[in-house]
Amino acid sequence: MAVITVTNLQKRFNLEAGFFARFGRFVYAVNGVSFSIGKNETYGLVGESGCGKTTTARLLVRMYESDGGTILFQDTTDINALNPGELKKYREKVKYVFQDPARSLNPRMTIYEVLVSGYRRSSRWPGERRGRKEAEAIMEEVGLGRADLERRPAEFSGGQRQRISIARGLLMAPDLLICDEVVSALDVSIQGQILNLLLDIRSRRNLSFLFIAHDLKVAGYFCDRIGVMYRGELMEEAPAGDLYRAALHPYTRLLFSAVTGAAAEAPSGATEVRKAVTQLTGCAFAERCPLAEERCFREHPEMRDLGGNSAPSPPGNRHPHRLRCFKAGAP
Ligand SMILES: Nc1ncnc2c1ncn2[C@@H]1O[C@H](COP(=O)(O)OP(=O)(O)OP(=O)(O)O)[C@@H](O)[C@H]1O
Ligand code: SF4
Ligand SMILES: [Mg+2]
Repeated sequence: MAVITVTNLQKRFNLEAGFFARFGRFVYAVNGVSFSIGKNETYGLVGESGCGKTTTARLLVRMYESDGGTILFQDTTDINALNPGELKKYREKVKYVFQDPARSLNPRMTIYEVLVSGYRRSSRWPGERRGRKEAEAIMEEVGLGRADLERRPAEFSGGQRQRISIARGLLMAPDLLICDEVVSALDVSIQGQILNLLLDIRSRRNLSFLFIAHDLKVAGYFCDRIGVMYRGELMEEAPAGDLYRAALHPYTRLLFSAVTGAAAEAPSGATEVRKAVTQLTGCAFAERCPLAEERCFREHPEMRDLGGNSAPSPPGNRHPHRLRCFKAGAP
């Protein structure tokens, strides 16, 4: 069973405000994205800044309304059709941990209030005594102490604050935890500690993850399967091991060459970080692609399955390698 299944998701933002909005210049932030996350699976979304990772994640919890496509929860519930009461219940099962713990924790609240304020308003709130016991247990699970519940966010380091954000995400025992760049604002040494904490949590709990990172190495360390995004589109998707062994898409290879420092292999223009998509012709990667040919600027490549794979994870759940490119992986 899939926890979440996204099909042909679309989101565009109008570049003009007010009167000029009618002339419609759009950023296609998410453009035809499809993927699913299995039970207990950790799915990574990877790509450079501005490629649409956060927008995709926000669409999943309806922080943004989509312009097209479907999002199914546990194979049956259409997220875009939920009424406000149903949406509230859904958001108890799908939790979002933000990149910047300094901004996502209310500085005036004690950690206890930070943790339980949403829970207390839910139908699952077990009462103050039980609620406190659960908050104490979750603090210990994330490597903090019960006495920390009386302190305030400013008294903690960045890494500790991210532990608190994770505790808040876990408190209601969600089915899916969305981790949006949860380590990228932290020092490298602290990043490792938080990743290890997430690995512990993953091994202890029945929990699926959507793990968002711009760093392919970090995602490869943590994820069962990875989708590589570029300018609003999924370009390649494969089990993490397959991607490491045999990345096929020129963009994924570019990301890997950045990781390994093999910059000489990168095509010219490889340092370009962000350029929003405002028109939809051809392959989104064509301008930077070393393999691009005339057709790539004219036609839009569809995602295609390359068949089975050899990766062992997740157990009993085999996924094909998928690719959006005319040339790479072609027979
Ligand atoms: N609220 C918004 N209004 C207008 N444009 C937006 C909005 N949110 C995102 N965008 C644009 O949509 C595109 C995708 O942005 P998004 O934040 O999803 O990227 P991202 O992959 O999460 O990047 P980062 O790694 O920097 O977090 C970008 O071009 C961005 O400028
Ligand atoms: S479709 Fe063409 S431009 Fe796009 S990644 Fe493949 S070879 Fe490069
Ligand atoms: Mg983002």
